[in-house]
Amino acid sequence: MNIILSEISKENYLQSIKLRVLPDQEEFVAPNVYSIAQSKFYSSWKPTAVYNDNEMVGFLMYGEDDINEGDGTIWIIRLMIDEKFQGKGYGKAAMLKIIEHIKTNYRQTEIFVSFVPDNVAAKKLYESIGFEDTGRFEEGESVYKLKL
Ligand SMILES: CC(C)(COP(=O)(O)OP(=O)(O)OC[C@H]1O[C@@H](n2cnc3c(N)ncnc32)[C@H](O)[C@@H]1OP(=O)(O)O)[C@@H](O)C(=O)NCCC(=O)NCCS
Repeated sequence: MNIILSEISKENYLQSIKLRVLPDQEEFVAPNVYSIAQSKFYSSWKPTAVYNDNEMVGFLMYGEDDINEGDGTIWIIRLMIDEKFQGKGYGKAAMLKIIEHIKTNYRQTEIFVSFVPDNVAAKKLYESIGFEDTGRFEEGESVYKLKL
């Protein structure tokens, strides 16, 4: 496994919007095309492709909560691995890479994620990395936090 994160660009955005989760996972994450659109108007969100070597296997989006509407905290607001590539460790490896990137490039000392409570895979994945329940529940999702 050789997971590489790369900015979404005009070269790879079409491929990223073709990535798919399983039908019963569609409620867990916004379509990538939606996330990319959102990032055009909220420029602190960074849409990012996940590659294994040179094959695109997933997508994530992270960044600083908009300081005008939010509070400047760091969130990984999207994470998906295409249905064909799930269960191979790519999701966890991508999370570890983006956490390292955030540690190096941002001053904040906490990272937030949120997920719908019945998303067992996401809960186990985040807990295995060290995210802890904040007890907060926002827009139907549990909010977890990792201290860097
Ligand atoms: C959640 C998701 C990103 C995980 O990606 P993945 O590459 O399949 O996960 P990994 O292979 O790296 O697994 C890492 C850990 O996640 C957990 N996990 C992953 N899939 C799981 C499943 N189907 N059931 C239970 N736990 C699961 C396990 O703890 C696993 O560690 P283990 O294999 O040592 O037990 C992927 O399932 C996905 O894209 N789901 C749909 C979108 C989504 O829910 N995104 C999160 C939104 S908050």
